[in-house]
Parts: sequence; structure tokens; C-alpha cells
Amino acid sequence: MDLPEPVESIGAQLEAGGDIVATPDLFDAYEVFSAELSQVFVRPWLAVDHHSRLGEDNSYFRIDMGSRSVVLVRERADCLHALRNACLHAGYRICEEEDGKGNHLFCNYHAWDYALDGRLTDPVLRPDQEDRSRFRLPRYAMQVRRGLIFVDLSLAAPNPPAPGEVDVGAVPEDLGDRVVARRQRYPTTWNWKHLRQFLWHAKELAFAAGECDAAVEFGPLSFLALQGEDAVLCRLVPRFPAHTDIELVRIARPGAPATDGFHDDRIAAALRDEAAAVEAAPLTALKRPFYEWYWSALSTPVRN
Ligand code: FES
Repeated sequence: MDLPEPVESIGAQLEAGGDIVATPDLFDAYEVFSAELSQVFVRPWLAVDHHSRLGEDNSYFRIDMGSRSVVLVRERADCLHALRNACLHAGYRICEEEDGKGNHLFCNYHAWDYALDGRLTDPVLRPDQEDRSRFRLPRYAMQVRRGLIFVDLSLAAPNPPAPGEVDVGAVPEDLGDRVVARRQRYPTTWNWKHLRQFLWHAKELAFAAGECDAAVEFGPLSFLALQGEDAVLCRLVPRFPAHTDIELVRIARPGAPATDGFHDDRIAAALRDEAAAVEAAPLTALKRPFYEWYWSALSTPVRN
């Protein structure tokens, strides 16, 4: 597999030993970001939200990852779908809203209409075609485990690939019975690599104060942080090379104090301090353990 030169340079420096110095392209080139999208971001599993986000039939919400967009749909309690959010006609998004409710999905551009399982419903389109499988939005594997919604963005097909195992580790067994106390997005102008190295070593920022008791990591871009009876799902959303959102979902026992969970001021202060450190030495801010993980992900096929 051919990798962009700035990435190949990291592999060569790892092999040579010693300090690693990146080139600016590693953080701002779209060619690198594109390789990261196909080789890193889509690695299973991504924990996207608490299952209450799909608490009612016909509800849906959208998640984005770089140029990739997915609509997660609940047709019925036992019938969930993760649909590629790209119209079969010309590729525009069929779901522009963050979330919504309805018994179909509709493309605003030229009015193609889809059932909630991704089937194109317009019967006048190629009625001669008996095999209608090509007239369906590709679907990704998804599943709900212990109250968390997981999606595998590595492959989409007319029939969703069989879901593999999710290692839920220390995820509390009653997490599905808890409630979402707060959901917040923090847009940043960071490259996702700096943000991941920082946050994965500062998981306590998921809480207003104190340390993180334990954490369960899911794939490259999400983890669940635990403190006492509180839990916060953290997910990175790389949008562009210099734009990454942090999404936090606090999942608490009913009646838990509203002041617990993550706190805007604590997060803002920590990001500000770390940003100053990164700006002082942007090309050497990432450490060898991060690069070892990064290189391993980029140089190993997502699927065998
Ligand atoms: S792009 Fe959706 S109908 Fe044309």
C-alpha cells in the first residue's frame, strides 16, 4: 500500500530509532488526512452514543468522519441500520439534519426517496430490474452493547457485514439503564493527532474534578471514561486536517448531581495550556508511543 511521503518518513524514523521529527505536511496535507480516513478513522469499533439517542421508532441521527457521513436509524427496537449518507443518484447527503424523526429519508436535491432501511422507494426507477439490491443505500455493521451504539465504518454493503465482537471490558452492565445527562461538542482547530495524544492521556477531563477511575477504549477515536457511578463517552470527530471536534456524552444514574461530569472551564483551560505547548514545538510534540500506534494503524490493512 502506498502511503504519503510524510507518513513514510515516520515509519523510516521509527525504524532508525532516535527522536522523531514530523514535517508540517503530516498535519495539514489533505493527502495525509485522506490516508488516515481510510486506514485509521474507520477501524472498528467506533462508540458513537448512548442507545437512548435512538429511543423511539423512526428516529435517526447523523455522524460524520472526515468526508464520510452515516445515518443511524431505528426502524423498530430490533431493527437498526447504519446507512451511508450519500444519495445513490449523485452522492449528495440524504440527511443534513443532526437528528430527526420520520418514516422515510428524502434527498432534497432531486427528490429521490428512501425507506428507513435504505431501500430506494421510487418504483419508476428501472422497474425492469428484478434485483433491487443495487437500489439500496450501503449499510455498515452496527450493534448496541451495554447501552452504547457501536458502528464499524470499515465496510459498507447492501446487506451489512456481519458484526464482529466488541470488547466492552469494564463498561458497567447497567449503562443502558442510565440516562444522558449532557451532550456537548467542542470544535477545535487542532489536528486530530495532537488531540488524541493529549486526551488519551488526560481522560480525567471527562469529569469536573478528580481522576478517572478506569477507561475502556473503542477503536482509534472513542473511549468511555469512568469515575464512581459516572460515565462519559468521548469521541473525536476529525473533519479536516486542522479541524477536529471533541464530542462528550455524560451517561449518569437518574438523579445524579448536575454539577458532576465534564466541565467547560476545566476542558478549556487544559486545551489552552496544551495548545501553547504544541504551538511551541509542533513538529516534535507527538511522542514515540503515539507514532508507534499511528504507524501500525496506517501500515496494516483495515480488513484482511
Ligand atoms: S443527488 Fe439525491 S436525488 Fe439527486
